[in-house]
Amino acid sequence: MYTLSKLLLAALSLTTLVGAHHPSRAHSRHRHAAVRSQSTSKVYTIQDLYQGEDFINDWDFFTGSDPTSGNVKYQSKSNAQSKGLAYVNDCDNSTVLAVDSTSTVSPGGQRDSVRITSQKSYNGGLFVIDASNMPVGCSTWPSFWTVGPNWPSAGEIDIVEGVNNQATNQMTLHSGTGQSCTIGKSTSSAGLFTGQVLGTNCYSTDNADAGCGVEDTDPRSFGYGFNGAGGGVFALLWDTSSGMSVWHFARGEIPADLTAHAPNPSTWSAPAGFWSAQSCDISANFHDHQMVIDTTICGNWAGGAYSSSGCPGTCSDMVANATNYVDAQWVINYVAVYN
Ligand SMILES: *[C@@H]1O[C@H](CO)[C@@H](O)[C@H](O)[C@H]1NC(C)=O
Ligand SMILES: *[C@@H]1O[C@H](CO)[C@@H](O)[C@H](O)[C@H]1NC(C)=O
Repeated sequence: MYTLSKLLLAALSLTTLVGAHHPSRAHSRHRHAAVRSQSTSKVYTIQDLYQGEDFINDWDFFTGSDPTSGNVKYQSKSNAQSKGLAYVNDCDNSTVLAVDSTSTVSPGGQRDSVRITSQKSYNGGLFVIDASNMPVGCSTWPSFWTVGPNWPSAGEIDIVEGVNNQATNQMTLHSGTGQSCTIGKSTSSAGLFTGQVLGTNCYSTDNADAGCGVEDTDPRSFGYGFNGAGGGVFALLWDTSSGMSVWHFARGEIPADLTAHAPNPSTWSAPAGFWSAQSCDISANFHDHQMVIDTTICGNWAGGAYSSSGCPGTCSDMVANATNYVDAQWVINYVAVYN
């Protein structure tokens, strides 16, 4: 989320692909064999399940100005509720976190939005979000991520993130200690993950905060494609001994053990992104993370990439027009943390 240079990263993505990997079906047996060695076979146990009102009661509503300079005014819990920007659907217990889609604001002004942070913090485990809708459209910048104190010294893990009309999800680690953290090139060429590497060095500073990103190849992993598939699930396995893995499963392809809340990731297909502990000191670089669900508008990344995104006019003009934000909402079935 601290992404001054993500614009640059996105622009360079086609020329900086490292070991772009296009696994064929014929190779899937090898992929599965390789994946099993990433994490030990284990059925994870649920530690925290957040659904329905839990997001409103057990998460904090961030009310500061957007650190990424977005055109948003983050709402307090009571204001978000009274303005209809945070509520629970009676029919299915899903939680809606929305951008204001009724008010006119001035061009370049601030539109009401919501950013929430889990009160609990974590040092590893399996983090899962099931959503049926994510915010979409030109100028939007939705994200689901985890972050530790004193950025970037305790690290950041961007599980779901992208801007404007981006076609697929971008997953990124940001490290901030003297301990190394890179995407080992060999892991990609060995077929341990299906995504495309955008940058290999995770080390981030205020002025160089691109991190080590991996781009999903499945258009159902982000934006209109995600929503059109009925949404789906993202899972981060944060394992200090093997590394970080991120999966996306479209609605129709969610593993049965995950739906049953008894997941064993070692039985799943290759993740979209994998950051091996062999090339990244996981425990030194990532600790005490809170989860964040956010939607900002324009700002460093969505605004910076706007003109190259195929979006009409300017980002500043876009924010003024309420009708652009009718679909700018998260609809979340649950977030779960397993250990
Ligand atoms: C809805 O969510 C609440 C937590 O806010 C939970 O206690 C309840 O069991 C859920 N209901 C259903 C039907 O899942
Ligand atoms: C607002 O946005 C809608 C949808 O993008 C567009 O049709 C309409 O012309 C815009 N209105 C103004 C005043 O820009």
